[in-house]
Amino acid sequence: MEFKQSSATISYHQSMLADSLRVRRYREAIQRTVREGDVVLDIGSGSGILSFFCCQAGASRVYAVEGGTAIEIARLLARANGFEERVVLLNEASWRVELPEPVDVVVTETLWNFGIGEGLLRWTCDARERLLKEGGTIIPAELALMVAPVELPQARSLIDTWAPEAYGLDLSAMRSPAANNVYRLSIPADALLAGAETLARPRTLEVAEPDVSGQASFVTTRDGVVHGLGGWFDAELAPGVRLSNGPRIETTSWSQAFFPLEQPLELAAGTKLRARIRTTGADQVWSWGVSVGDESSDSALSQSTFFGFPFSPERLGRQAPDWSPRLSRMGEIQRFVLESCDGSTPAEELESELTRRFPDTFADRDDAATFLADLLEAVAE
Ligand SMILES: C[S@@+](CC[C@H](N)C(=O)[O-])C[C@H]1O[C@@H](n2cnc3c(N)ncnc32)[C@H](O)[C@@H]1O
Repeated sequence: MEFKQSSATISYHQSMLADSLRVRRYREAIQRTVREGDVVLDIGSGSGILSFFCCQAGASRVYAVEGGTAIEIARLLARANGFEERVVLLNEASWRVELPEPVDVVVTETLWNFGIGEGLLRWTCDARERLLKEGGTIIPAELALMVAPVELPQARSLIDTWAPEAYGLDLSAMRSPAANNVYRLSIPADALLAGAETLARPRTLEVAEPDVSGQASFVTTRDGVVHGLGGWFDAELAPGVRLSNGPRIETTSWSQAFFPLEQPLELAAGTKLRARIRTTGADQVWSWGVSVGDESSDSALSQSTFFGFPFSPERLGRQAPDWSPRLSRMGEIQRFVLESCDGSTPAEELESELTRRFPDTFADRDDAATFLADLLEAVAE
């Protein structure tokens, strides 16, 4: 594993463990939920911290599912804490795992700045359908998705940098894609032009599908310019245990989400406005909009991450169902490696074959070794 990757993995998990509010609230929720002898599924177990809390709460077995290399941190810590018999580590994406028994509790901390956005509802819907016992529990139980109109002049640079005149060039063709993205930003409490409202309140045991759609109404409390919508979550992890990343809350794991408005709105105090946000494609595409007054319609969803990148027609064509793909040069090289993984050819032989057969692609043996290591990590055992 490359050192930049290992330090990034370690510091990512370190930063989450250092966020004591986050960790304490999850521990409390686990203590209130997990009973002696329970079987638990921890989706995105990372360093293993939540799995270990489940063991301390009395779980007889915890399936700790982690798609990334952080599973090795969990393995080390499970052994060091005497949990290796009870924590079953599965280095796999949750939607691919099959378990030998149904679980009593699913726990996951895959929260993004707006609660949804890192797949939490996708993972919990899937686990609830396939892996959770009838009458089982999910942590978090509910995500209140909070929104407010915000005045954030400093965020305009996200769009205004793409100016008609910059460095002797016209960069404005990128304005619209830039405006059709959702950003992670720190939104101070005094940026709010109206009190925050709940856009939607999905409950993990009940939602039929992972997409969310909702609207909220506001009356501005002061004169100002709406530069966008601020968003965050207020999660009920378990009854009586909440975790939020709202503007006044001290958590180091999340800032807030910012949905910019392509055209800022200058409003006087006392103006009514409505915000709408909708996700589609299992949380892949986000659309939003703000309308002034009481009325709201689908046309209010005027911005969307669907328009958030300037894809070329060739690239878009690759998404079409009638596209007939053929192997690229890189595909040919990968096919050669895949076909050579027969369980008896040593990796060093594959390295030299790669440099011999594809000298135009691999400058030297080190180059081939790096390529091979990455590919084998994903496909070989
Ligand atoms: C925010 S971290 C939380 C880690 C740990 N549970 C904690 O609370 O400190 C989320 C982790 O989940 C993993 N992850 C996200 N979605 C996953 C999924 N569907 N299946 C397996 N791992 C997933 C990521 O690789 C990452 O390590």
